[in-house]
Amino acid sequence: MHAAALATEPVTRAIRQRTDYYAVVTRGLTKRFGKRLAVDGLDLVIPAGSISGFVGQNGAGKTTTIRMLLGLIRPTAGRGTVLGHPLGRSRAYLPRVGALIEGPTFYPALSGRENMIVLARLSGIENRRVDAALERVGLGARGLDPFRTYSLGMRQRLGIAAALLPGPELLVLDEPTNGLDPQGIAEIRAMLRSFADEGMTVFVSSHLLSEIQQICEHLVVIETGRLLFQGGVEELLAARAPELIVRTENPNHAKRLLQLVTGTGRSARIVGDNQSTILEVLADCSWAGDLNRLAMENGITLVHLAERRSTLEEAFFEITRSSAKQAIQGSDPACAAGGSDGGTKAWSEKAGRP
Ligand SMILES: Nc1ncnc2c1ncn2[C@@H]1O[C@H](COP(=O)(O)OP(=O)(O)OP(=O)(O)O)[C@@H](O)[C@H]1O
Ligand SMILES: [Mg+2]
Repeated sequence: MHAAALATEPVTRAIRQRTDYYAVVTRGLTKRFGKRLAVDGLDLVIPAGSISGFVGQNGAGKTTTIRMLLGLIRPTAGRGTVLGHPLGRSRAYLPRVGALIEGPTFYPALSGRENMIVLARLSGIENRRVDAALERVGLGARGLDPFRTYSLGMRQRLGIAAALLPGPELLVLDEPTNGLDPQGIAEIRAMLRSFADEGMTVFVSSHLLSEIQQICEHLVVIETGRLLFQGGVEELLAARAPELIVRTENPNHAKRLLQLVTGTGRSARIVGDNQSTILEVLADCSWAGDLNRLAMENGITLVHLAERRSTLEEAFFEITRSSAKQAIQGSDPACAAGGSDGGTKAWSEKAGRP
């Protein structure tokens, strides 16, 4: 049998039989350390059989959330299920979960393989799984070297191999790409993609959206313990309205066009300095024809007209910014009344988004 199939054989069967299944569901999951609220009422829904990214800045509460999901610490409040079992009964689901949390620890003097055999024995797992898991993470050739001689990337791989040992349905990886170079990050990404393709649910945290955005179908974004966004990558992109980018031929026409556009009730702004000929208009491409006609009818020639969709990174910063704005407005009534703009863009005129 192929090594890859060995490491994950129970997974595909279990997940494919239960397509409407959520691997993790939480309601109001909360953790307080003394006065510090590390995780604040998280409602998570992690679809099974996909890769879900868990994104938040340093200290956002990712590891704390993962520890609660793995039964390592007890929530202060809230409830939830992992693989259908309540959080309080982690022994019921942990045999079906593989986890790597913040830099795994291994015996330095033992080889990677020996470390894995120790772990396998502790869990009553057959030795054949050790070799399959080492192959799976690309450590087959270096499995007999002492752990202390492993590079950071190899240590992370060994951690993932250890997480694969039980043939998990759910793989929880806390910052598996931490400290890796771009090549190492790409390799881990490809590995996670292959796990999900076989039906495993992968829940992977990172403080950098850019590191995991390409492989995640589902994203959970948290900030200071609170949920900022949860849903599909497409939904996150849709959360930010598309813009039309317009450029006038005559430098004197940009301001005139801005007036004309805002006169229709659309939001727009000139990008750049006083001499700029470039306008951003909050509208999608269905309004491009109207905009072109509006310019033409007023003797303005456009040399560029195109829709610009935001990147995931921009959409991410947008929701992060708007949450900061809400927090400021929430804590300062004077500021809320003034309607201060927490964003970096100063959109012209009163109109809302198209
Ligand atoms: N055992 C603890 N005792 C006290 N405070 C803690 C404890 N564990 C975590 N915290 C605090 O809870 C908050 C969330 O920490 P957590 O480790 O969950 O963040 P994180 O999102 O994993 O960050 P990073 O990206 O740096 O790993 C932080 O303010 C942290 O200092
Ligand atoms: Mg962490």
